[in-house]
Amino acid sequence: MTDTMTDALRLTGIEKRFGDTRILRGVDLSVRAGERHALIGPNGAGKSTLFSLIAGERRPSAGRIELNGADTTRLAPAALSRRGLARSFQTTSVFARLSVIENLRCAVLASQRGAAGFAARWLGSRRVEARASDVIEAIGLADAAHREAGALGYAEQRALDLGLALAGGAHTLLLDEPTAGMNRAEAARAIELIRATTAGKTLLIIEHDMDAVFGLADRVSVLVQGRVIATGTPAAIRADAAVREAYLGGFVS
Ligand SMILES: Nc1ncnc2c1ncn2[C@@H]1O[C@H](COP(=O)(O)OP(=O)(O)OP(=O)(O)O)[C@@H](O)[C@H]1O
Ligand SMILES: [Mg+2]
Repeated sequence: MTDTMTDALRLTGIEKRFGDTRILRGVDLSVRAGERHALIGPNGAGKSTLFSLIAGERRPSAGRIELNGADTTRLAPAALSRRGLARSFQTTSVFARLSVIENLRCAVLASQRGAAGFAARWLGSRRVEARASDVIEAIGLADAAHREAGALGYAEQRALDLGLALAGGAHTLLLDEPTAGMNRAEAARAIELIRATTAGKTLLIIEHDMDAVFGLADRVSVLVQGRVIATGTPAAIRADAAVREAYLGGFVS
């Protein structure tokens, strides 16, 4: 099970400095293929920063990132996307003035390499349409296909965010606090939607609501002050003395 061949994502000694401030201080983290892995930790621990490094939006100051065994430390977001990595952001990132289905078409298109020639474009457009339709069904927004994304309710916008991440057919998904700002019932529904739409995929999910994520995750890693202080099953993490102390030290979930 711990064989590196089964790791979809492997981070070794990741450091990130902003000026003189060390935000990440040697992060080691492995996510197995097909695993649902939650990343939890206090505000400012560096969780979103870590995602920006994995997704190629920023470069680590030191350390190595591997996706399916290949070194991707220095790859740009587009190259990582072509290798099957997708991410969602902590705040909603839909195009507010476009309809729901247009948002999804854009996301599918963005994930494809440019195809030359009319026939290829025509066939491509059929595929884009089919893919966008599949995703809109999966996220439960088919009835809202032609509504402006900006006019959706908040939970629906977050479902669309998930759809944008799914649209390109990525096998490894990074979701940054997909239930942020939701009430408990909305968060529970969002987690169920994530569970249903990510079957068979590799998932790394940042969450603040420990209860929500503990029902979803196969394993949990805890990031505190720029380091992973524990990784284990939800039950093991709940029982971990160092984790409890870190949480009592300033993080109420
Ligand atoms: N571009 C930047 N320049 C300087 N400091 C930054 C930058 N981005 C983030 N930071 C700092 O890095 C630290 C970690 O931020 P990050 O957003 O990664 O934390 P987080 O764990 O995602 O927190 P939250 O739970 O609040 O989302 C914070 O102190 C933040 O102010
Ligand atoms: Mg964050």
